[in-house]
Formats: sequence, C-alpha cells, structure tokens
Amino acid sequence: MTASEVREKYINYFKANPRNHKEISPAPLVLENDPTTLFTSSGMQPLVPYLMGEPYPSGDKRLMDSQPSIRTVDVEEVGDNRHLTFFEMLGNWSLGDYFKKEQLPWIFEFFTKELGLPKERLWVSVFEGNNQVPKDEESAEIWKSLGIPKERIYYYGVEKNWWSRSGTPQQMPVGEIGGPDSEAFYDFGEELKLHENSPFKKEKCHPNCECGRFLEIGNSVFIQYKKIGEDKLEELPNKNVDFGGGLERIAAAVNGDPDIYKTDLFKPIIEVLDSGSGKKYDDNEVEFRVIADHLKAAVFLFANGVTPSNKQHGYVMRRLIRRFAYKMNKLGIITLKELPKLTEQVINIYKDSYLKDLENYKVHPGIGSEIDKFFSTLYRGEKYLDSQPVINAQVAFNSLATYGIPFEVSRELAKSRGQDIDITEFEKEFEKHQSLSRSTSAGVFKGGLADHSPEVIKLHTATHLLLASLRKILGDQVVQKGQNITKDRSRFDFPNSEKLTDKELKEVEDMINDTIQKSLPVNFKVMPKEEALATGAIHAFNEKYADTVKVYFVGDRIENAISCEFCGGPHVGNTSEIGRVRIKKQEKIGAGVIRIYLTLKPAN
Ligand code: SER
Repeated sequence: MTASEVREKYINYFKANPRNHKEISPAPLVLENDPTTLFTSSGMQPLVPYLMGEPYPSGDKRLMDSQPSIRTVDVEEVGDNRHLTFFEMLGNWSLGDYFKKEQLPWIFEFFTKELGLPKERLWVSVFEGNNQVPKDEESAEIWKSLGIPKERIYYYGVEKNWWSRSGTPQQMPVGEIGGPDSEAFYDFGEELKLHENSPFKKEKCHPNCECGRFLEIGNSVFIQYKKIGEDKLEELPNKNVDFGGGLERIAAAVNGDPDIYKTDLFKPIIEVLDSGSGKKYDDNEVEFRVIADHLKAAVFLFANGVTPSNKQHGYVMRRLIRRFAYKMNKLGIITLKELPKLTEQVINIYKDSYLKDLENYKVHPGIGSEIDKFFSTLYRGEKYLDSQPVINAQVAFNSLATYGIPFEVSRELAKSRGQDIDITEFEKEFEKHQSLSRSTSAGVFKGGLADHSPEVIKLHTATHLLLASLRKILGDQVVQKGQNITKDRSRFDFPNSEKLTDKELKEVEDMINDTIQKSLPVNFKVMPKEEALATGAIHAFNEKYADTVKVYFVGDRIENAISCEFCGGPHVGNTSEIGRVRIKKQEKIGAGVIRIYLTLKPAN
C-alpha cells in the first residue's frame, strides 16, 4: 500500500457514515500572523479558536484533513529512523461532539480493518492522572473492550500522555489549551534487531522506551482544559477530540519496516542520493536521512513562498539548507549536479497532493544558490581548519568567528583526526573574547554590563525574569525598548498602550518571585546567531548582533527555559541568589511606552 493510498483510505473512512466528518483544506505551512509560531506544526493549530468554543463557520462539528507540518524542535533527532522536520499529519477533530468511546474504536478500526495492521501489534498508552486531572480509566476500558489486553496498555504522566502546543500543563502559558491523550504504537516485534546503536533491550522494553521496537502511529488528544493561572486548569466549554497521526509513520507500520525513509514518501529521494554519491544508504543512513528530510522541508518552504534569509521563516530555511548541504558535502556530492534530480523527486512524490503547480526549474536554483554560498564559506573554513596542527577550542572559535563555521563542523573534523574539542573550553574561549572585546569596546556580541557588583548582577537576572513574566501576562508583543541597571534598581521600558493595573503588577511581581524561589539554574550557550534565533530566544529587534551570540536561559534546558534571551551577561548562577524583588513603581514615559522600576528586597 502506498502512502497516498493510506491518506485516501483515512479520508474516506472518516468521511463515511457513521463518522460523517467534513474534510477541510489544510492550512498554509507558513503562518504570517501568528506570534506564537512560525510554521503550522500540527493539524489542530488552525482550529484553536474552535477547540476553545467558538462555533466553526460552517457549523460542522466533525472535521478532518491531512496537514503538511514543520516542526523544528526535533531537528537534532533527524537522522534516526523516525524523526522528521517536515511531515504530514492525518487529523480528525470533534468540536464538542463525539468523545472517547467513538474516537478510540474508530481509530482502532481504521488501523486494523482499513489498513490491515494486525491487532496483536498494537500497544496503547493512557494518562496516569495527577492531582488535577484524573487517571484515564475510561480510555483504558475502551481499549480493553476492543481486545487490547491490559499487558499492552501503559499508563504515563504528563511528559508522555499530555498534549498541548507547548508541552506539559506546567509548561503551558496561561490561555493555552490541552488535555490528556491516548497514543497508539505499532510493535515491529521482539525479533527485530533494529540498529547497531539502539539494540532492542528486551528487559525493560515498553512503548515509550525509544529502543526502536515501537513506533507511535497516532495520538488522540482529549482537549478539555485551558490554563488559567499558575497550576490552574479550567474545563473548556466543550470536550474535544484532536487526533493526529504521522502519515510517514503509519506508512512505515503498513510496510512492516520501522524506517520511515524506506516508504515511498522517501524512496525516490534516497535512490538519487545513492546513485549520485555512489554510496549506499545502509552505510550512510544519517547523512541520507538528514538530506532527504531537510531537502523536502526546503522544497515545501519554497513552495510556500519562503526564500533563505536572515529573518524568521527564511532563517529556518537557511539553516535547514546549510545542514543538509554539509551532509551532501560529506557524502561527496559537491558539484550540486544532483540537486535538480533531488528536488524533482520531492515534487514527484507530492505532485498529486500539495505540489501540483511547482516548477522544478525554479526550485533548484532557489535552493542551489544558498548551497553555493555555504560551500564557499565551508571551503575557506575547512582550509583554515586543515592548516591547523590541532583543532582545539580556540581554533574552533576562530573558525566560527571568522568563517561562520558551525561548532559541530569543527568538532567533526577534529574527531576525524582523533582529536576532540571540549565544549566548556570552547565556551571559555568565548568568555575570554568577550572580556577582551569589552575592554576594547568592540563587542563580538552586544550586551554585557559595565558594573559587575553583586547587586547589579542580581538585578540583571531579575530583569530577564521581569521581561519573561510581562510576556506571559501581557503577551509576546512585549519586548525590551530600553534598560538601565544601577546598584539600587533596574529600569525597564517596553511598549504597552496603558499602564498595568495594580493586579497585573502584582501578578508580574509574584511570578518573578515564584521563579526565584524555584532555585532554577541560570546558564548560557554560545551559538551562531541563526541557531540562536531558531531557539526562539528573545532579542531586541533593533539591535545588531554579531554572527555568534550568547543566549542566557533560566531553567535546566534551553528548550523549556522560563526565560531565554540574547545577552552578554553576566548573571547569577541560580535564581535563588536573587533573594526577592519588588516592583517599585511604573510610569508612562511616552506614547505607548511604559517604564518599570525593579528593586531588590532587603532580606528581613
Ligand atoms: N495535536 C496532536 C499532535 O500533534 C494530535 O493531533 O500530536
């Protein structure tokens, strides 16, 4: 069965009586006016207002489609047999209409009867419950009644069985919707020796163990909640269903091979890479996969009117192209001769669905000129690296600062010589460079404070928390317009039409103090500007930044940091060092600009 057939079967199944869904047109991949995200990254995204309770314009309560999506959070995972940045998501939705007892049997029937997946190969997971949302016994009972034995029903917490656009209930911003979910996994079988690097671990294997034996093929989210405050969820007016299943993964299950790149959605691209490089997929899986995925994403971005640039969507496109260009280079496809053949294959795969009118002669030069640019930098950078007897942190830093060579490229070259670069040393190089440049007032990256007294450093971190809290409470339009920190106070200006209400001010202050009390680590990462922008770190739009920047973040990881900003530092090492803060006063200093003064509260 081809992937197109899977897509068609899904659409027909959910359209048919008694499911009676209306097929809607998928949303464009590129979102222009959504401040929360650059791309459509799931089928539910265009439906958020209706999941929140607004009636759907046509009056329909059962909707479905197949949605092309881009997710860049998984970009580092691309290269294994299942992760993608571009994918297609089959989706069906109930806007306060049917619920669990219809959804789970339907999706089960679709998998087992329509696609013929053996029922014994299906495993499922349900939400284990927490102090706010009960354990999902109802879904478990439904799965049992369908013939899934309890040994194949797993309970997990919010990390695995809760879905919202922004993660767990704790990570959800106020106003976000989400709910517990129930996932279906396909079991490729114990007998399968999947990969040298991820041998099947028999003892502790379970659907979410990531050993490669199981592949998630569908997620039924029961969108029932809205976040209304820190640790506070409220029931939505409707109980909704939001199902999403990755077409590439479902096709892999139908194929009986867990490698999504072996489905007909990738095979023709892999074949060109194979003949073009004279190398075999089996020996170069990571390179082939990264090229195939990123190339596909780039072609779809092109089809959506994006061109590589230094901003927003164009930045992501540039980054994806450079990443796959580097892999092309590694495979020895350096003449770009293969590019038209590759882009043509992408268009062929989707010519009947999404890329009907795309002309290849326009696509490949659009992508090719970006690759050309990257190659010329790469050659110069590699030449420099080659001329060095040892590739250490300092050399890696120089090649980044001078040629824009990503750290990973230097490290890979170092490794090929049996050398290694210590990331901490590399970051230290940065520090060194920063203080040097500060003293000569020619910054590698802007930022940095003149006064390094403990009070100023504390207030500096507190100011990052102030900005993060303002954004949470007032919205992402809040950016820094001005900032000045002395030993006694931090002064912070931002655009807002009116002064904040007392209640809002109190909320902001409380939020900062709550974060301080959580004793979160404050760390930084040094990275190329492109990469930093792609993390979504806050930066002042009218500032100029060097090609390499420092990003400070509060929390364990940059991905789920409470605050994440381009900044030279310095900052405290842990929020607990700040003590407590107080918002001393606010002023309206001009049309649409508000100024807030923040002070440290003396310890009692
Ligand atoms: N929104 C859910 C997901 O993206 C299901 O559609 O996984």
